[in-house]
Amino acid sequence: MKTMLSGVKPSGQLHLGNYIGALRNFVAYQDDYQMIVFIANLHCITVPQDPIELHTNLRDCIALYLACGLDPKKSIIFLQSDVMAHAQLGFIIGCHTYLGELNRMTQFKDKSSKGEQNLSSGFYTYPTLMASDILIYDADFVPVGEDQKQHVELARDVAIRMNNRYGPLFKVPECLTAKVGARIMSLSDPLKKMSKSDRDGDKGCIYLLDPLDKARKKIMSAVTDSLASVRFDKENQPGVSNLLQILSALTSEPIDSITNRYQSLGYGSLKKEVADAVCATLEKIQSRYKEILASGLIESTLSDGAYRAKILANAKLKLVQEKIGLEIETQ
Ligand code: AMP
Ligand code: TRP
Repeated sequence: MKTMLSGVKPSGQLHLGNYIGALRNFVAYQDDYQMIVFIANLHCITVPQDPIELHTNLRDCIALYLACGLDPKKSIIFLQSDVMAHAQLGFIIGCHTYLGELNRMTQFKDKSSKGEQNLSSGFYTYPTLMASDILIYDADFVPVGEDQKQHVELARDVAIRMNNRYGPLFKVPECLTAKVGARIMSLSDPLKKMSKSDRDGDKGCIYLLDPLDKARKKIMSAVTDSLASVRFDKENQPGVSNLLQILSALTSEPIDSITNRYQSLGYGSLKKEVADAVCATLEKIQSRYKEILASGLIESTLSDGAYRAKILANAKLKLVQEKIGLEIETQ
């Protein structure tokens, strides 16, 4: 079975775009792959965090992942900082990464070119920790958003470099970026991606924890067009196409089949059907989320996940340390 690995930056504000573009897929993958999913809490502190808020977000994030169907019996789910080998291998990887490579990372370049003061050295070197997160499990596939692709490529480059220098140490991972079509757009501005930084009073973004009536209202007031015809045409009808995409993703009905049903129906009916589908999905997730918060599932998932992850990670760290000459056998 191939291994698929994903690191998730915690945010209590997961939204429908995250669900359709990422979470839902992890749940589907867990039958065909060994899924390794961890909450990247060390990556969070590369920028300043409020400790209480961070702690709440970690719990919320894991609860939502479980609520969306990630199964701790099938997948290995853990907190990054519980498996200390990540940070140790991260240092070793940092010693095999050139400054020039880190200087080229877009995320760092963007922030420093905007003149952001007080960027931490952890923010600068975090791609080496991310490479460690991936290589320590010999991941075959790493599904990430477009912005993280460059970091997975760095992991590949360092893996190849270290394999050449010391002999086979790491599997060279493949990056999986979402297919076109896996972009859910803002409901208030369908030319922009649905995102938590939506400034438009959050009208464009449906959060997984939105009250159902609020979610329904956002869909009923989604921006469409004046063409009065339900067609999938992203260029000329981005709003309607986005609604079709959401409906199709949540119900598995092909877009063609939906548009056929809507030949003589208007946008109002389409919005109502989308709102019903979204509310049904949110309702399921939210009731599971409440159950999970009240149960001990978060704690048991994390301790079992860390146990399983440590076995894999510690073995890989030991191999690497031996191969690069760090270890002295004591028995
Ligand atoms: P982010 O919330 O931007 O850190 O993204 C986390 C994951 O959700 C990534 O895998 C993204 O590709 C996915 N994602 C975020 N926003 C959207 C969106 N509007 N449509 C589809 N997928 C998304
Ligand atoms: N850096 C990623 C982000 O900001 C999260 C992440 C950390 C990650 N380690 C990873 C993603 C390993 C994939 C694989 O979203």
